[in-house]
Amino acid sequence: MSAFAGKLVRWQARHGRHDLPWQRTRDPYRIWISEVMLQQTQVGTVIPYFRRFLARFPDVESLASAAPDDVLALWSGLGYYSRARNLHAAAQAVVTAGGRFPRTRDALEALPGIGRSTAAAIAVFAFGEREAILDGNVKRVFARHFAVRGFPGEKRFEKRLWGLAEAELPARNIETYTQSLMDLGAGVCTRKRPGCSSCPVIRSCAGYAQGKMEAYPASRPRKTRPVRKTSMLLLLREGEVLLEKRPPSGVWGGLWCLPEMPMDSGPGDYCQRRFGAKLVGARRLAILHHGFTHFELDIAPLLCLLDPASHCAAEPGQVWLPLEEAGGAALPAPVKKLLASVGSNGLGGEPAALEKALQD
Ligand code: ADE
Repeated sequence: MSAFAGKLVRWQARHGRHDLPWQRTRDPYRIWISEVMLQQTQVGTVIPYFRRFLARFPDVESLASAAPDDVLALWSGLGYYSRARNLHAAAQAVVTAGGRFPRTRDALEALPGIGRSTAAAIAVFAFGEREAILDGNVKRVFARHFAVRGFPGEKRFEKRLWGLAEAELPARNIETYTQSLMDLGAGVCTRKRPGCSSCPVIRSCAGYAQGKMEAYPASRPRKTRPVRKTSMLLLLREGEVLLEKRPPSGVWGGLWCLPEMPMDSGPGDYCQRRFGAKLVGARRLAILHHGFTHFELDIAPLLCLLDPASHCAAEPGQVWLPLEEAGGAALPAPVKKLLASVGSNGLGGEPAALEKALQD
Protein backbone atom coordinates (compact mmCIF):
# COMPACT_ATOMS: atom_id res chain seq x y z
CA MET A 1 0.00 0.00 0.00
CA SER A 2 1.35 3.49 -0.80
CA ALA A 3 2.31 5.66 2.18
CA PHE A 4 -0.53 8.01 1.18
CA ALA A 5 -3.22 5.28 1.29
CA GLY A 6 -1.79 3.70 4.45
CA LYS A 7 -1.90 6.96 6.39
CA LEU A 8 -5.41 7.70 5.23
CA VAL A 9 -6.70 4.25 6.15
CA ARG A 10 -5.25 4.50 9.68
CA TRP A 11 -6.58 8.04 10.06
CA GLN A 12 -10.08 7.04 8.92
CA ALA A 13 -10.30 4.25 11.48
CA ARG A 14 -9.64 6.74 14.30
CA HIS A 15 -11.05 10.03 13.05
CA GLY A 16 -13.43 9.25 10.21
CA ARG A 17 -17.21 8.86 10.13
CA HIS A 18 -18.59 5.41 10.92
CA ASP A 19 -22.22 5.93 11.86
CA LEU A 20 -23.84 7.63 8.90
CA PRO A 21 -27.20 6.03 8.09
CA TRP A 22 -25.86 4.46 4.88
CA GLN A 23 -22.81 2.93 6.56
CA ARG A 24 -22.46 -0.48 8.27
CA THR A 25 -24.41 -2.09 5.45
CA ARG A 26 -23.63 -3.83 2.19
CA ASP A 27 -27.13 -3.23 0.85
CA PRO A 28 -26.54 -1.79 -2.64
CA TYR A 29 -29.98 -0.17 -2.62
CA ARG A 30 -29.31 1.95 0.48
CA ILE A 31 -25.81 2.77 -0.71
CA TRP A 32 -27.05 3.75 -4.16
CA ILE A 33 -29.76 6.06 -2.80
CA SER A 34 -27.27 7.73 -0.45
CA GLU A 35 -24.62 8.22 -3.13
CA VAL A 36 -27.12 9.82 -5.49
CA MET A 37 -28.44 12.14 -2.77
CA LEU A 38 -24.85 13.05 -1.84
CA GLN A 39 -23.92 13.91 -5.44
CA GLN A 40 -24.75 17.59 -5.08
CA THR A 41 -25.81 17.85 -1.46
CA GLN A 42 -24.03 17.86 1.89
CA VAL A 43 -24.32 15.06 4.42
CA GLY A 44 -26.23 17.13 7.01
CA THR A 45 -28.93 18.02 4.48
CA VAL A 46 -29.12 14.51 3.06
CA ILE A 47 -29.65 12.58 6.33
CA PRO A 48 -33.34 13.46 6.97
CA TYR A 49 -34.20 13.05 3.27
CA PHE A 50 -32.45 9.69 3.22
CA ARG A 51 -34.37 8.45 6.27
CA ARG A 52 -37.74 9.55 4.87
CA PHE A 53 -36.97 8.06 1.47
CA LEU A 54 -35.94 4.69 2.93
CA ALA A 55 -38.95 4.60 5.23
CA ARG A 56 -41.27 5.10 2.25
CA PHE A 57 -39.31 3.05 -0.31
CA PRO A 58 -37.37 0.40 1.65
CA ASP A 59 -36.27 -1.60 -1.41
CA VAL A 60 -35.82 -1.37 -5.15
CA GLU A 61 -39.21 -3.03 -5.85
CA SER A 62 -41.15 -0.45 -3.83
CA LEU A 63 -39.32 2.38 -5.58
CA ALA A 64 -39.83 0.86 -9.04
CA SER A 65 -43.58 0.56 -8.52
CA ALA A 66 -44.04 4.04 -6.97
CA ALA A 67 -45.91 6.87 -8.69
CA PRO A 68 -43.44 9.44 -10.07
CA ASP A 69 -45.15 12.16 -8.02
CA ASP A 70 -44.52 10.29 -4.77
CA VAL A 71 -40.82 9.97 -5.57
CA LEU A 72 -40.56 13.66 -6.44
CA ALA A 73 -42.47 14.67 -3.29
CA LEU A 74 -39.80 12.97 -1.17
CA TRP A 75 -37.14 14.85 -3.14
CA SER A 76 -38.86 18.21 -2.77
CA GLY A 77 -36.29 20.76 -1.55
CA LEU A 78 -33.18 18.67 -2.36
CA GLY A 79 -32.83 20.19 -5.85
CA TYR A 80 -31.42 18.69 -9.05
CA TYR A 81 -34.64 16.79 -9.60
CA SER A 82 -33.35 14.81 -12.55
CA ARG A 83 -31.67 12.74 -9.82
CA ALA A 84 -35.06 11.59 -8.55
CA ARG A 85 -36.39 10.89 -12.03
CA ASN A 86 -33.25 8.89 -12.87
CA LEU A 87 -33.45 6.99 -9.59
CA HIS A 88 -36.98 5.94 -10.41
CA ALA A 89 -36.04 4.90 -13.96
CA ALA A 90 -32.98 3.00 -12.68
CA ALA A 91 -35.09 1.14 -10.09
CA GLN A 92 -37.43 0.06 -12.87
CA ALA A 93 -34.48 -1.09 -14.99
CA VAL A 94 -33.08 -3.14 -12.08
CA VAL A 95 -36.46 -4.77 -11.37
CA THR A 96 -37.07 -5.49 -15.06
CA ALA A 97 -33.67 -7.19 -15.20
CA GLY A 98 -34.65 -9.52 -12.35
CA GLY A 99 -34.15 -7.33 -9.26
CA ARG A 100 -30.46 -8.01 -8.74
CA PHE A 101 -28.20 -4.99 -8.56
CA PRO A 102 -25.29 -4.80 -11.01
CA ARG A 103 -22.07 -5.56 -9.16
CA THR A 104 -19.40 -3.88 -11.26
CA ARG A 105 -18.64 -0.24 -11.91
CA ASP A 106 -19.21 -0.69 -15.65
CA ALA A 107 -22.63 -2.25 -15.20
CA LEU A 108 -23.64 0.30 -12.56
CA GLU A 109 -22.61 3.13 -14.87
CA ALA A 110 -25.09 1.88 -17.45
CA LEU A 111 -27.98 2.83 -15.13
CA PRO A 112 -29.56 6.29 -15.48
CA GLY A 113 -28.06 8.94 -13.19
CA ILE A 114 -24.96 6.96 -12.21
CA GLY A 115 -21.69 8.46 -13.41
CA ARG A 116 -18.21 7.04 -13.06
CA SER A 117 -17.52 8.22 -9.49
CA THR A 118 -20.95 7.27 -8.12
CA ALA A 119 -20.71 3.84 -9.77
CA ALA A 120 -17.28 3.38 -8.21
CA ALA A 121 -18.52 4.39 -4.74
CA ILE A 122 -21.39 1.89 -4.92
CA ALA A 123 -19.09 -0.86 -6.23
CA VAL A 124 -16.66 -0.18 -3.37
CA PHE A 125 -19.13 0.09 -0.48
CA ALA A 126 -21.59 -2.62 -1.57
CA PHE A 127 -19.28 -5.12 -3.25
CA GLY A 128 -15.73 -4.32 -2.10
CA GLU A 129 -14.60 -3.68 -5.69
CA ARG A 130 -11.26 -1.95 -6.13
CA GLU A 131 -12.38 1.22 -7.92
CA ALA A 132 -11.39 4.89 -7.78
CA ILE A 133 -13.83 7.65 -6.83
CA LEU A 134 -13.42 11.28 -7.78
CA ASP A 135 -16.23 13.55 -6.62
CA GLY A 136 -15.82 17.29 -6.07
CA ASN A 137 -14.28 16.99 -2.60
CA VAL A 138 -11.92 14.23 -3.63
CA LYS A 139 -10.77 16.25 -6.64
CA ARG A 140 -9.76 18.97 -4.22
CA VAL A 141 -7.81 16.53 -2.04
CA PHE A 142 -5.82 15.16 -4.99
CA ALA A 143 -5.35 18.53 -6.70
CA ARG A 144 -3.89 19.98 -3.49
CA HIS A 145 -1.87 17.06 -2.40
CA PHE A 146 -0.22 16.67 -5.79
CA ALA A 147 -0.32 20.38 -6.71
CA VAL A 148 -2.22 19.73 -9.92
CA ARG A 149 -2.84 22.88 -11.91
CA GLY A 150 -6.13 23.51 -13.64
CA PHE A 151 -9.75 23.38 -12.63
CA PRO A 152 -12.60 20.85 -12.44
CA GLY A 153 -14.23 20.36 -15.82
CA GLU A 154 -10.99 20.96 -17.70
CA LYS A 155 -10.05 17.89 -19.70
CA ARG A 156 -6.36 17.73 -18.83
CA PHE A 157 -7.06 18.31 -15.15
CA GLU A 158 -9.72 15.60 -15.00
CA LYS A 159 -7.50 13.11 -16.80
CA ARG A 160 -4.55 13.75 -14.52
CA LEU A 161 -6.71 13.41 -11.38
CA TRP A 162 -8.32 10.17 -12.50
CA GLY A 163 -4.81 8.88 -13.16
CA LEU A 164 -3.72 9.79 -9.63
CA ALA A 165 -6.90 8.39 -8.07
CA GLU A 166 -6.30 5.06 -9.82
CA ALA A 167 -2.60 4.99 -9.03
CA GLU A 168 -3.12 5.51 -5.28
CA LEU A 169 -5.71 2.75 -4.84
CA PRO A 170 -4.60 0.31 -2.15
CA ALA A 171 -4.79 -3.44 -2.69
CA ARG A 172 -6.67 -3.90 0.60
CA ASN A 173 -9.06 -1.88 2.77
CA ILE A 174 -10.68 -0.24 -0.23
CA GLU A 175 -13.83 0.69 1.72
CA THR A 176 -11.93 2.45 4.51
CA TYR A 177 -9.63 4.17 2.03
CA THR A 178 -12.56 5.42 -0.06
CA GLN A 179 -14.38 6.69 3.01
CA SER A 180 -11.17 8.36 4.20
CA LEU A 181 -10.98 10.45 1.03
CA MET A 182 -14.59 11.55 1.49
CA ASP A 183 -14.07 12.33 5.17
CA LEU A 184 -10.84 14.21 4.61
CA GLY A 185 -12.40 16.25 1.80
CA ALA A 186 -15.51 17.10 3.78
CA GLY A 187 -13.96 17.80 7.20
CA VAL A 188 -10.25 18.66 6.89
CA CYS A 189 -9.21 19.48 3.33
CA THR A 190 -11.98 22.03 2.96
CA ARG A 191 -12.16 24.56 0.16
CA LYS A 192 -11.49 27.51 2.46
CA ARG A 193 -9.24 27.46 5.52
CA PRO A 194 -8.31 23.77 5.42
CA GLY A 195 -7.43 22.15 8.75
CA CYS A 196 -3.92 21.12 7.67
CA SER A 197 -2.74 20.59 11.25
CA SER A 198 -5.19 17.64 11.52
CA CYS A 199 -4.27 16.16 8.14
CA PRO A 200 -2.70 12.71 8.08
CA VAL A 201 -0.89 13.37 4.78
CA ILE A 202 0.39 16.87 5.48
CA ARG A 203 4.02 15.79 5.15
CA SER A 204 3.62 14.74 1.54
CA CYS A 205 1.22 17.55 0.55
CA ALA A 206 2.70 19.64 -2.26
CA GLY A 207 0.04 22.35 -1.94
CA TYR A 208 0.94 22.75 1.73
CA ALA A 209 4.66 22.76 0.99
CA GLN A 210 4.09 25.66 -1.40
CA GLY A 211 1.98 27.45 1.24
CA LYS A 212 -0.75 27.71 -1.39
CA MET A 213 -3.39 25.22 -0.29
CA GLU A 214 -6.32 27.40 -1.27
CA ALA A 215 -4.91 27.88 -4.76
CA TYR A 216 -5.76 24.22 -5.56
CA PRO A 217 -7.85 23.49 -7.42
CA ALA A 218 -8.07 26.73 -9.38
CA SER A 219 -11.61 27.96 -9.76
CA ARG A 220 -13.34 27.54 -13.04
CA PRO A 221 -13.41 30.84 -14.98
CA ARG A 222 -17.04 31.76 -14.40
CA LYS A 223 -19.37 33.37 -16.82
CA THR A 224 -21.84 35.56 -14.98
CA ARG A 225 -25.16 33.79 -14.90
CA PRO A 226 -28.06 35.53 -16.59
CA VAL A 227 -30.89 36.63 -14.30
CA ARG A 228 -34.44 35.74 -15.32
CA LYS A 229 -37.44 37.37 -13.74
CA THR A 230 -40.87 35.89 -13.32
CA SER A 231 -44.01 36.58 -11.41
CA MET A 232 -45.63 33.68 -9.55
CA LEU A 233 -49.30 33.74 -8.72
CA LEU A 234 -50.51 32.35 -5.44
CA LEU A 235 -54.15 32.05 -6.45
CA LEU A 236 -56.42 31.55 -3.46
CA ARG A 237 -60.03 30.56 -3.77
CA GLU A 238 -62.00 29.45 -0.76
CA GLY A 239 -58.84 28.39 1.12
CA GLU A 240 -57.45 26.46 -1.83
CA VAL A 241 -54.40 27.25 -3.91
CA LEU A 242 -53.80 26.38 -7.57
CA LEU A 243 -50.75 24.30 -8.51
CA GLU A 244 -49.61 23.47 -12.03
CA LYS A 245 -47.43 20.56 -13.05
CA ARG A 246 -44.26 21.44 -14.98
CA PRO A 247 -43.41 19.59 -18.20
CA PRO A 248 -41.56 16.32 -17.50
CA SER A 249 -38.09 17.50 -18.52
CA GLY A 250 -36.10 20.64 -17.92
CA VAL A 251 -35.80 22.76 -14.82
CA TRP A 252 -38.11 21.51 -12.07
CA GLY A 253 -39.37 18.87 -14.52
CA GLY A 254 -42.47 17.07 -13.22
CA LEU A 255 -42.75 19.24 -10.08
CA TRP A 256 -45.84 21.15 -9.00
CA CYS A 257 -45.43 24.92 -9.31
CA LEU A 258 -47.44 28.07 -8.97
CA PRO A 259 -48.75 29.54 -12.23
CA GLU A 260 -46.33 32.06 -13.69
CA MET A 261 -47.31 35.37 -15.23
CA PRO A 262 -45.14 37.54 -17.53
CA MET A 263 -43.70 40.45 -15.52
CA ASP A 264 -45.51 43.04 -17.61
CA SER A 265 -49.03 41.61 -17.23
CA GLY A 266 -51.71 42.93 -14.92
CA PRO A 267 -53.00 40.25 -12.53
CA GLY A 268 -56.70 41.14 -12.96
CA ASP A 269 -56.62 40.76 -16.74
CA TYR A 270 -54.37 37.75 -16.56
CA CYS A 271 -56.59 35.85 -14.09
CA GLN A 272 -59.61 36.62 -16.24
CA ARG A 273 -57.95 35.52 -19.46
CA ARG A 274 -56.11 32.42 -18.27
CA PHE A 275 -58.38 31.13 -15.58
CA GLY A 276 -61.70 32.83 -16.27
CA ALA A 277 -61.55 34.03 -12.66
CA LYS A 278 -62.34 37.37 -11.08
CA LEU A 279 -59.72 38.92 -8.83
CA VAL A 280 -61.05 40.51 -5.64
CA GLY A 281 -57.80 41.33 -3.83
CA ALA A 282 -54.04 41.11 -4.41
CA ARG A 283 -50.84 41.71 -2.51
CA ARG A 284 -47.19 41.62 -3.55
CA LEU A 285 -44.92 39.44 -1.42
CA ALA A 286 -41.16 39.77 -0.95
CA ILE A 287 -39.02 38.81 -3.97
CA LEU A 288 -37.31 35.41 -3.78
CA HIS A 289 -33.95 34.65 -5.41
CA HIS A 290 -33.09 31.18 -6.57
CA GLY A 291 -29.81 30.08 -8.14
CA PHE A 292 -29.67 27.37 -10.80
CA THR A 293 -26.49 26.05 -12.38
CA HIS A 294 -26.86 28.15 -15.52
CA PHE A 295 -29.04 31.07 -14.49
CA GLU A 296 -30.58 32.88 -11.57
CA LEU A 297 -34.27 33.37 -11.06
CA ASP A 298 -35.90 36.35 -9.37
CA ILE A 299 -39.42 35.45 -8.35
CA ALA A 300 -41.96 38.21 -7.69
CA PRO A 301 -44.81 36.45 -5.88
CA LEU A 302 -48.30 37.86 -6.00
CA LEU A 303 -50.95 36.68 -3.60
CA CYS A 304 -54.29 36.85 -5.40
CA LEU A 305 -57.70 36.29 -3.92
CA LEU A 306 -60.25 35.02 -6.42
CA ASP A 307 -63.97 35.49 -6.27
CA PRO A 308 -65.49 32.20 -4.99
CA ALA A 309 -68.23 32.57 -7.59
CA SER A 310 -65.61 32.41 -10.38
CA HIS A 311 -65.62 29.31 -12.47
CA CYS A 312 -62.27 27.68 -11.62
CA ALA A 313 -62.22 24.16 -12.97
CA ALA A 314 -58.79 22.52 -12.85
CA GLU A 315 -57.53 21.66 -16.30
CA PRO A 316 -55.31 18.62 -16.88
CA GLY A 317 -52.01 19.27 -15.09
CA GLN A 318 -53.63 21.61 -12.59
CA VAL A 319 -54.91 20.98 -9.09
CA TRP A 320 -56.61 23.06 -6.42
CA LEU A 321 -55.37 22.02 -2.98
CA PRO A 322 -56.18 23.29 0.51
CA LEU A 323 -53.37 25.67 1.45
CA GLU A 324 -52.34 23.56 4.44
CA GLU A 325 -51.99 20.43 2.25
CA ALA A 326 -50.17 22.01 -0.67
CA GLY A 327 -46.81 22.06 1.16
CA GLY A 328 -46.72 18.25 1.02
CA ALA A 329 -46.76 18.11 -2.80
CA ALA A 330 -43.65 17.66 -4.97
CA LEU A 331 -42.64 21.33 -4.96
CA PRO A 332 -39.40 23.16 -5.77
CA ALA A 333 -37.78 24.75 -2.71
CA PRO A 334 -38.82 28.39 -3.35
CA VAL A 335 -42.46 27.41 -3.91
CA LYS A 336 -42.43 25.35 -0.73
CA LYS A 337 -40.98 28.31 1.14
CA LEU A 338 -43.55 30.66 -0.30
CA LEU A 339 -46.48 28.45 0.64
CA ALA A 340 -45.08 27.97 4.14
CA SER A 341 -44.67 31.72 4.60
CA VAL A 342 -48.24 32.40 3.55
CA GLY A 343 -49.63 29.63 5.72
CA SER A 344 -47.89 30.71 8.91
CA ASN A 345 -47.25 34.43 8.85
CA GLY A 346 -48.70 37.75 9.68
CA LEU A 347 -50.99 37.48 6.71
CA GLY A 348 -53.25 35.28 8.73
CA GLY A 349 -52.35 31.61 8.82
CA GLU A 350 -55.91 30.32 8.64
CA PRO A 351 -57.17 30.54 5.07
CA ALA A 352 -60.21 32.52 6.22
CA ALA A 353 -58.04 35.05 8.06
CA LEU A 354 -55.80 35.27 5.06
CA GLU A 355 -58.68 36.06 2.77
CA LYS A 356 -59.87 38.70 5.17
CA ALA A 357 -56.41 40.29 5.30
CA LEU A 358 -56.38 40.49 1.52
CA GLN A 359 -59.77 42.05 1.27
CA ASP A 360 -59.02 44.72 3.90
N1 ADE B 1 -20.17 11.95 -0.13
C1 ADE B 1 -20.40 11.12 -1.15
N2 ADE B 1 -20.55 9.87 -0.72
C2 ADE B 1 -20.42 9.89 0.62
C3 ADE B 1 -20.48 8.91 1.65
N3 ADE B 1 -20.73 7.65 1.35
N4 ADE B 1 -20.29 9.31 2.91
C4 ADE B 1 -20.06 10.60 3.18
N5 ADE B 1 -20.00 11.55 2.28
C5 ADE B 1 -20.17 11.21 1.00
